[in-house]
Amino acid sequence: MKHLIEPLDFTIEEYEKLFSLVDDIIAKPEEFSHFCDNKLLASLFFEPSTRTRLSFETAMERLGGKVIGFSDAGVSSSTKGETLADTIRVIENYADICAMRHPKEGAALLASKVVKNMPIINAGDGGHEHPTQTLADLITIRHYKGRFDNLTIGFCGDLKFGRTIHSLARALNRYKNVKFIFISPEELKMPEVFKQNIKKENYKETDSLVDVIGDLDILYMSRVQKERFVSSDEYERLKDFFILDREKLKHAKDDMIILHPLPRVNEIAPEVDSDERAVYFQQTKFGMFGRMALIITLLEAKND
Ligand code: CP
Repeated sequence: MKHLIEPLDFTIEEYEKLFSLVDDIIAKPEEFSHFCDNKLLASLFFEPSTRTRLSFETAMERLGGKVIGFSDAGVSSSTKGETLADTIRVIENYADICAMRHPKEGAALLASKVVKNMPIINAGDGGHEHPTQTLADLITIRHYKGRFDNLTIGFCGDLKFGRTIHSLARALNRYKNVKFIFISPEELKMPEVFKQNIKKENYKETDSLVDVIGDLDILYMSRVQKERFVSSDEYERLKDFFILDREKLKHAKDDMIILHPLPRVNEIAPEVDSDERAVYFQQTKFGMFGRMALIITLLEAKND
């Protein structure tokens, strides 16, 4: 049985199959509208979410399946002291597949070790990884750039706690000649563990967006992750370190694309939304199709 806990759980070839499936779903959605008849997705969100939860639930509904779960850990028996392992053992008796978000790093991995017959999808574990956002990001890059090789991507903002950045960097590092520019204040630098497999000559670090924006094929903006800060003063000091606006975009390539996992706070000025390089709302739609393809793939692997 297959799970998706981190982006490298799928090979490049498996991603290619997923992308082909996404193409088929977009071209002929009616052919997939009964794939999950009589199937149940457990949607367990121990942490807030708009896109990930609703796109998973929409994906399952569009495949003909049904959804159980909660969007607030406060209404689950975890408030009574139930362990995550016990919760998952129970949910496995009810559902065919499970998407789970949790504030603790490693929670989805733990769930995957406990289950016997229910694929686990990591919908975000603390400041660690977010592999289904990576799916949305890769599908968007494939759509607009047509390739994953020979790209320069700038990750800008909170690289310390930005789990979507950790996951996408690991996924893209498998392709040829991908250059990374990590743009952050010193306090929010990319953790060493997520740089250790990137060749030194393939990345650089800076605290100036303007200095490097002209080199980028993709600019991946991110929110400063308020919920992961111990000090609110530190958050207030760093939250507006980068704000992408029309003035800064004058220095960018005409065919650069701007991604953002959303939610956005201040880091992209609303005036940027009308720029044709801003594709972050389309990215959310690709995320839903990616999750449809992922549910199909994991349920097929389970049946095999
Ligand atoms: N991109 C993302 O994870 O958004 P949500 O937190 O709204 O799910």
